[in-house]
Amino acid sequence: VILNQDELKKIAGYKAVEFVTSGMIVGLGTGSTAKHAVDRIGELMRQGRLKNIVGIPTSKKTLEQAVSLGIPVSDLDSYSVVDLAIDGADEVDPYMNLVKGRGGCLLREKMMECACKKFIVVVDESKLVTHLGRSGLAMPVEVVPFCWKFTAKRLQDLFEDCVAKLRTVVCYCQDGNKMEQPFVTDNGNYIIDLYFKKDIGDLNVANNTILKLAGVVDHGIFLDMATTVIVAGKLGVTIKNK
Ligand code: A5P
Repeated sequence: VILNQDELKKIAGYKAVEFVTSGMIVGLGTGSTAKHAVDRIGELMRQGRLKNIVGIPTSKKTLEQAVSLGIPVSDLDSYSVVDLAIDGADEVDPYMNLVKGRGGCLLREKMMECACKKFIVVVDESKLVTHLGRSGLAMPVEVVPFCWKFTAKRLQDLFEDCVAKLRTVVCYCQDGNKMEQPFVTDNGNYIIDLYFKKDIGDLNVANNTILKLAGVVDHGIFLDMATTVIVAGKLGVTIKNK
């Protein structure tokens, strides 16, 4: 049987939920892989196989999903320590460093994943890379909307061979015409996507220099945060621990 990418995501998501036990405060990630884990938590709660779970969602979308499944939800103001977080990633390097945020939820994800005892990353094998940023895909940076062009230029100038682009969404006007608008995060900010010709380079340097720029709220490089990575591949599931 050849499994498609969504089936692999589901396998990884379900596997992670095996580490959830009754009574836990669980960080609920965002994206097409984490969604499967949230579904599974809801299913096990309905069956009475998981009890007294409190979910801490990382986006408005996941909050809605959890509520629709009957998972009790709260936030970091009420629970400053999370037992276990389960979330997807866009890239995973051999040291378990991540790029996240192509779904635009990196800030709430990072806030929650900084606060958890265990952070399980769930991915299909297409997310594995040798060096972050080498895939040619976006490395997202959340910025305040005020003078975003200025911030985008300063971000681009931090790196050699980097292109910074505002993330946009296409909307349809009443007259049927298409219009491009900035993508707005759950926190009311914009996303500047960085595209690297080569790769991000030294990750610690990138982490610190991006964060130091005024106008930047946070970025999608997650260093040294994952404690477990579950990878679903065509040949089976692998679990890597820190
Ligand atoms: C959301 O902003 C992201 O960080 C997601 O966790 C990440 O993009 C992975 O999403 P998928 O599981 O949909 O690939």
